[in-house]
Amino acid sequence: MCGIFGYIGEERPLQLWLDGLSRLEYRGYDSCGVATIKNDFIFIKKQQGKILDLRTNLKNLSLEKFNIGIAHTRWATHGKPNNLNAHPHIDCGKKIAIVHNGIIENYLLLKEMLLAERHKFLSQTDTEVITHLIEKFYQGNLLGAILKCVKELKGSFAIAIISTYQPKQLIGIRKGSPLILGLTDKGQFLASDIPAILPLTKKVVYLEDEQIAILEKDKVNIFDFEGRPNRVNIERINIKEEQALKKGFPHFMLKEIFEQPEVLDKTFLLYLKKEKIHFPQLNLKESFLKNLKNIFITACGTAYHAGYLGKYFLEKYCGVNVYIDVASEFRYRNFNLPNRSLLISISQSGETADTLFATRDAKSKKIKVLSICNMLGSSLAKISDNLILTPAGPEIGVASTKAYTAQILVLILFSLYLAKIKNIISEKFYQDAIVELKAIPNLIREILGQSKKIKSIADKFSKFGCFLFLGRGINYPSALEGALKLKEISYIPAEGYPAGEMKHGPIALIDEYRAVVCIAVYDNLYEKMVSNIQEIKARNGKVLAILNYQDIQASKLSDEAIYIPRLKNQDFSPLLIAPVLQLFAYYVAKNLGKEIDQPRNLAKSVTVE
Ligand code: AGP
Repeated sequence: MCGIFGYIGEERPLQLWLDGLSRLEYRGYDSCGVATIKNDFIFIKKQQGKILDLRTNLKNLSLEKFNIGIAHTRWATHGKPNNLNAHPHIDCGKKIAIVHNGIIENYLLLKEMLLAERHKFLSQTDTEVITHLIEKFYQGNLLGAILKCVKELKGSFAIAIISTYQPKQLIGIRKGSPLILGLTDKGQFLASDIPAILPLTKKVVYLEDEQIAILEKDKVNIFDFEGRPNRVNIERINIKEEQALKKGFPHFMLKEIFEQPEVLDKTFLLYLKKEKIHFPQLNLKESFLKNLKNIFITACGTAYHAGYLGKYFLEKYCGVNVYIDVASEFRYRNFNLPNRSLLISISQSGETADTLFATRDAKSKKIKVLSICNMLGSSLAKISDNLILTPAGPEIGVASTKAYTAQILVLILFSLYLAKIKNIISEKFYQDAIVELKAIPNLIREILGQSKKIKSIADKFSKFGCFLFLGRGINYPSALEGALKLKEISYIPAEGYPAGEMKHGPIALIDEYRAVVCIAVYDNLYEKMVSNIQEIKARNGKVLAILNYQDIQASKLSDEAIYIPRLKNQDFSPLLIAPVLQLFAYYVAKNLGKEIDQPRNLAKSVTVE
């Protein structure tokens, strides 16, 4: 996934583009570049490395101003991160410069055709074929050339274009990758995501798939891929700028961990009315829900772990069959999706390619889709006929935290909503559950108050070269998520495992060099977790236990313990365990001096397969 930023309007210093790009750096950061038009020539500066290095290398232009430009920060898909493969890319005649987010799946074929027509390529990227295609089709009408070009491209793309053919136009193209316009009366912006536009304007247009926007200093026109004019749907974004900034925290991830209580409070505001659960954007008829027999859940990464928890809640409270698979597998399995089924797709960004493909496949089989998504205006939000938004706000840290707990809470609320419609749970159980859930945000605040203690434990455990995370039942997915958090920001190998599986292999790993995080809260499987801890200690493994206050058994056996409040309904305990394991991962990575908000090789949303 990459970040695109563009502007056309009153003259501005290059700082504008670099600042916009910096707010997208979480989307990819292995190389970057800018292009503008100067004295009727295209000027490009691009390089491997971070935006900070680019700023330094553009110092000599810091006093100049420009009225048009595009910029790009890259997460390499085709072609190594280096100066030549950095964007922007340019045609042979040096008249067209573009930046691109996505993948051109048929680029090799197109490249062969263009090479045969003597086009000169400078990079190994898929993106570069776009510039030469537009050049090939250009016969005096830039839009016409672009319309011919997009018909040749297969795959997903968000593209920004400037050209000396039309020096007063900034062009944006969207198909499968997000592109948002920001409008002001002094100039127009385009960007891959909201945070780049937030400090500049609240007036936005979410480009739809297969749309082309032509931005000029004081106007915007939108066309479809047939060249027909489309309506310009202007919306106002209601995310305050400070929500996207760090608010004094050293990392976005830590800020977002600490935002979780407020996010869960907001979730109740949205989906609880007079102590009744309701989902305003749900178009599923009660009759459909009452007879619902099969639910499929698909997602990737952390969203998948939230979905796994959803599986436990839905099976336990709603008496339905729940099948779950990661989206990259789900879409290739021949699920016979019987009718009266529902697919629940979960995604923070709403742009994860695998999740989008899996959702589209299910829709093509006439399966009703309910999406749980954090980004209004995202591709997933647009293709879903039923949407439950998680009100987590922009999540900038690559490691997902506040979106995860919001997804869990939404899944619990949806399970209770469905169970009520199916008359499986009593009114008392329903009301007691709501009372307990509403107390969770303050319990998380209490847990976050332990951050110093969690940090000291994390510092001790930072020396271990490999981790196992063990949980049972409802907290097996919590163990999976704890392992993912640690590995993706500290780069320490970590594996989540169902504790009952220890004897079937993983126990061979246990020795004094192995750290094992055991989730052993008081539930029906607590005693079994105590036995697991005993087995680990008998083999000199080091145990960090996540326990309830006043725990007496497991605490005596463990090397370290972090205590959380005990709930009446321990099925909701994953909401309390998540912030503990997020903080643990954060402080281990911090102790190791890792790039926490921008871990190597990762991107915030994987918009390619
Ligand atoms: C989570 O910390 C990771 N960054 C990653 O696994 C992420 O959850 C996954 O890529 C799915 O992203 P999505 O929720 O935006 O679809």
